[in-house]
Amino acid sequence: MTEKSVRLHADDIESPIDLPVYSGTLGNDVVDVRGLTANGYFTYDPGFVSTASCESKITYIDGANGVLLHRGYPIEVLAEKSEYLETCYLLLHGELPSKSQYEQFQTLITNHTMVHEAIARFFRGFHHDSHPMAIMCGAVGALSAFYHDSLDISNAEHRLISAHRLVAKMPTLAAMCYKHHIGQPFMYPDNMLSYSENFLRMMFGTPCEDYKVNPVLASAMDKIFLLHADHEQNASTSTVRLAGSSGANPFACVAAGIATLWGPAHGGANEAVLAMLEEIGDESNIDKFIAKAKDKNDPFRLMGFGHRVYKNFDPRAKVMKQTCDEVLTELGLENDPLLKIAKRLEKIALEDEYFIQKKLYPNVDFYSGIIMKAIGIPTEMFTVIFATGRTIGWIAHWHEMVSEGFKIGRPRQLYTGYAQREYVKLEKR
Ligand code: SDX
Repeated sequence: MTEKSVRLHADDIESPIDLPVYSGTLGNDVVDVRGLTANGYFTYDPGFVSTASCESKITYIDGANGVLLHRGYPIEVLAEKSEYLETCYLLLHGELPSKSQYEQFQTLITNHTMVHEAIARFFRGFHHDSHPMAIMCGAVGALSAFYHDSLDISNAEHRLISAHRLVAKMPTLAAMCYKHHIGQPFMYPDNMLSYSENFLRMMFGTPCEDYKVNPVLASAMDKIFLLHADHEQNASTSTVRLAGSSGANPFACVAAGIATLWGPAHGGANEAVLAMLEEIGDESNIDKFIAKAKDKNDPFRLMGFGHRVYKNFDPRAKVMKQTCDEVLTELGLENDPLLKIAKRLEKIALEDEYFIQKKLYPNVDFYSGIIMKAIGIPTEMFTVIFATGRTIGWIAHWHEMVSEGFKIGRPRQLYTGYAQREYVKLEKR
């Protein structure tokens, strides 16, 4: 990192404070504010809108220009030329694999897709209509109970095998959530299938007959996983890093990430988009909902729109929209009413002064739900799919942080509570 500096003048200190400025490969320079504390200051940045929490080489986002790079490769290129598991290798190891490296990685992941039989008993403890994200928080956190042999985070081999286990087992656990929900038997993974084909078979196959994977749907599923793989220091990834900074095991850290992703402002938005489209119900109601979204006194927000970083089109949304058209055409659903509402809503919003002025564009969640619904995935499973795809991002950031050394994350605060005061006895209050 090249070093410049900024000079901070403050009324109540004699000499100005010089703070180093670092430049990365791309993006904003950062001011190293660690020197402030010795001079009696903290920085103040609720929501971390202006805070760089770490140094990373994994993903770069240029929100103003709608750019998303994974290890330098644009998301549009990876979506067109790569596949999810190859992108997992890239995110974890930093380079695209050679043919032999990729074959070895695929075999490695495939051979870790089964979960311990005892985990199946967990699911029986949940009511059939438990939200699958609640089950995933529990099941993924509990994985660490089965792998005492590889929880030493200071051991590089343990770190990697935990990363492989998590990427491999998430689709299996996700499909188990769905099967438990509908009362069907769990399907074991089929090692002859690709990652996404295997997931669709575990979701929709039954022991009663062979399941024929539709290649268009398998390709769409793979794109959904790939487009959700990683996204810099978003809320859930930052949670995984913070949990990991205490030395917690990777399964516990990813469980914390799953819990964070669940929120409707984050990964829960795809489920909320479908609920919103169903609530709108007809194109004639769109204007009413646009007005609600613009009304400061109405908490309603247009789900699937807006982003903390993208103030231009989310490049993932463009690919997702194209995939949506492909899937609905394949399934003969081109006239799907929800798709028609979504496309009309997008058109109206993109022409509306409020959305233009606030730079609110469709994000990754706007079209993904329509694809998943068309594939037959129930709405409450949408965020589970997001978590499955994002697991590689979470564990790649965890692996980068633990491999390169870390301090426990411990932010401070602006305290506005009482100064010290005397305790008054009960009888005198
Ligand atoms: C994801 O961080 C990531 O990278 C996340 C993610 C990832 O891959 O990990 O990209 C995945 O979480 C995508 C976002 C999914 N969430 C939604 O679609 C929910 C709807 N969107 C909003 O809740 C909101 O846009 C956020 C949460 C996404 C971003 O919120 P910010 O950055 O905190 O922006 P903000 O709330 O300060 O909004 C700025 C202004 C506000 O108006 P003012 O207070 O300035 O008058 O824009 C308005 C907001 O009211 N606004 C919206 C809006 N989003 C923002 N108004 C109506 N509808 C919306 N969707």
